[in-house]
Amino acid sequence: MSATIIDGKAIAARIQDEIAETVQKMQAQHGIVPGLAAVLVGEDPASAQYVRMKRKRCEKVGIASFGHTLSEDASQEEVEALVKQLNADPQVHGILVQLPLPDHLDEEKVLSLISLHKDVDGFHPINIGRLAMKGRDPLFVPCTPYGVIVLLEEAGVEFSGAEAVVLGRSNIVGLPGAFLLIHRNATVTVCHSRTKDLPGVCSKADILVAAVGRAEMVKADWVKPGATVIDVGSNRVDDPSTEKGYRWVGDVDFDDVKEVAGALTPSPGGVGPLTIAMLLKNTLRGAELVVSGQVAS
Ligand code: GUN
Repeated sequence: MSATIIDGKAIAARIQDEIAETVQKMQAQHGIVPGLAAVLVGEDPASAQYVRMKRKRCEKVGIASFGHTLSEDASQEEVEALVKQLNADPQVHGILVQLPLPDHLDEEKVLSLISLHKDVDGFHPINIGRLAMKGRDPLFVPCTPYGVIVLLEEAGVEFSGAEAVVLGRSNIVGLPGAFLLIHRNATVTVCHSRTKDLPGVCSKADILVAAVGRAEMVKADWVKPGATVIDVGSNRVDDPSTEKGYRWVGDVDFDDVKEVAGALTPSPGGVGPLTIAMLLKNTLRGAELVVSGQVAS
């Protein structure tokens, strides 16, 4: 039997329509236009492309977007000065510093400087700390794992008591994703490069989240029949048969796994669109904190 394909593009489009409507009402009723500032340091082509896509989608839903590009050799002081300027800017309700930063910069210090109520990536140590504790709510949840949860909900997954395996322990996806699943009462295993018998561990999962950055690593025999598989990977592989000479694939061997899984996201077209939709949602929330008087600006 072939898996149900979870259509991330369609789900993200619906969420974005809802956001656009709320943005319009906010502007009409309160004269406030939500604003997102994106900071890019250096010229990494993948990062530049992500930032372009984020800005384009902002415009589509009526969120103002402010792009700031610093050179690859920008100093720690320059980056920090920019973050402080954006913290003080009342037109900015969300600040995104695209990661990874060049090696000479102190990422933790930069992320710590972002105002808590503008931390739409959810990477400020206090937001991450709250996510890592029981009964504490972060102001913002990191966008990619937040999107993973929305996709699982859309697929009708029962979280409580499910065996969930997260493949990958990154700060951006794997670790926050594991906490989100624990909060929903799943039993969570996080796998990484030292895990023994990866296929064996993964094949116990009712929910499998692949976020490891290895092209088509997850095969059909890694997957429990009927499991829900979310593919976070986005890997460029050479393919001389295409016009560009390459194509994008996920961490999951889609054609192989779709014969075993109960539900599966494609990549591209699965998690990617949700990540951006969640960023827009978080930015709207940043503006709502101002409208509701919970923060000054
Ligand atoms: N780099 C890859 N994913 C992300 C993300 O979600 N946020 C930021 N800031 N950088 C990233």
